[in-house]
Amino acid sequence: MYIEHLAVWDYRNFGRAELWPAQEGVTLLAGPNGSGKTNLLEAVGYAASLRSFRASPTASLVRAGCQQGLVSAAVRRDGRALQLEAEVLVSGRGRLRLNRQAVRRPEDFVGALLVTVFSPDDIELVKGGPQARRDYLDAMIVALSPKLALVAANLERALRQRNALLRSAGGVLRPGMEGVLDVWDDKVAEAGEALVTAREQLVMALVPEVEAAYRELGGREKVELHYERSWDGALLDALRTSRALDLRRGVTGAGPQRDELHFCLDGLVARMQASQGQQRSLALALRLGGHALVTRRQGTVPVLLLDDVFSELDGRRSAALAACLPPGQVLLTAAGAVPADLSVAAAAEVSAGSVFSSPPGGAHGPDGSEGVRDGS
Ligand SMILES: Nc1ncnc2c1ncn2[C@@H]1O[C@H](COP(=O)(O)OP(=O)(O)OP(=O)(O)O)[C@@H](O)[C@H]1O
Ligand SMILES: [Mg+2]
Repeated sequence: MYIEHLAVWDYRNFGRAELWPAQEGVTLLAGPNGSGKTNLLEAVGYAASLRSFRASPTASLVRAGCQQGLVSAAVRRDGRALQLEAEVLVSGRGRLRLNRQAVRRPEDFVGALLVTVFSPDDIELVKGGPQARRDYLDAMIVALSPKLALVAANLERALRQRNALLRSAGGVLRPGMEGVLDVWDDKVAEAGEALVTAREQLVMALVPEVEAAYRELGGREKVELHYERSWDGALLDALRTSRALDLRRGVTGAGPQRDELHFCLDGLVARMQASQGQQRSLALALRLGGHALVTRRQGTVPVLLLDDVFSELDGRRSAALAACLPPGQVLLTAAGAVPADLSVAAAAEVSAGSVFSSPPGGAHGPDGSEGVRDGS
């Protein structure tokens, strides 16, 4: 799958900008710090998931001083043309249109365009708290089987209700509460068992992919991934057993919301013992491994978005990445130099809220402006 054309209006620092990426291979978005390179990748990510991969609220995507903005992407997926349009409003998410038809439910829009994103913040996957790692798994589960989004949503709702009940009890189970708690235990257990099974299966499938990606990136250490549940046996039993403790704490202590995904490099805990460069390589391998798995399972290659990927890798690892980029469309940002042997299919110059990129075969720019570079 690939993006034929991206356009944004009143999005971040852009009044209006357009991009015609190369269908296959690397489209390099080059430009100084603060020019808007990451903003463009973020816009692509927004068209795919209706979220900012920088975890910014939708309102902050609207250009300062404006009330609304728009992201529009013309996509080719397995030969079919898809036209995606998503408004961003100061008040939050706006109207959605898919192939010029209004779409009411976000779940009917999300996933039409598939992307894999790597951003410098992804080092948090390795270094940060367990939530980032659980989110990494859950996002991939949804990309692989969209129906499981419902399971995750059900678990979240049941946990919210159970925790609210625990807190309102103030440590003492009043008459009638037990039955209600039983109901939420059942719901947490049902959704929780389904989600943890999906996560464990995913981790098993990911291990060889992440190992291969880490090696291709020039890493020599042995990579291990290990999923650890926060409970033993059946989740329903664990919830019943921990009920008294949960009541005292006002929060549910067992379930996928407390699980951990551990990474080791040569037997050392990556979060605490790996170097910064090793952590960054591992984070990138987690993304590229996931990308390979989604590609294989979905039979279509997601668009790969690489933000500032070369900025903290040493020369050997940068060269290894340049040599091992997977097939498909890659949008890559860089403020500085990129490895000499990186094969660039198209280049766009981003400069203070303007993009200079050429339409395929066309000699003029998006708005007839000067300074348009030939993309070949
Ligand atoms: N809602 C907004 N309205 C206007 N400008 C914005 C908005 N949000 C962010 N910006 C501006 O966008 C710019 C940052 O853009 P971006 O992060 O894409 O830069 P970049 O080219 O990726 O830079 P770097 O090389 O440092 O990563 C900043 O100058 C910021 O002030
Ligand atoms: Mg940036």
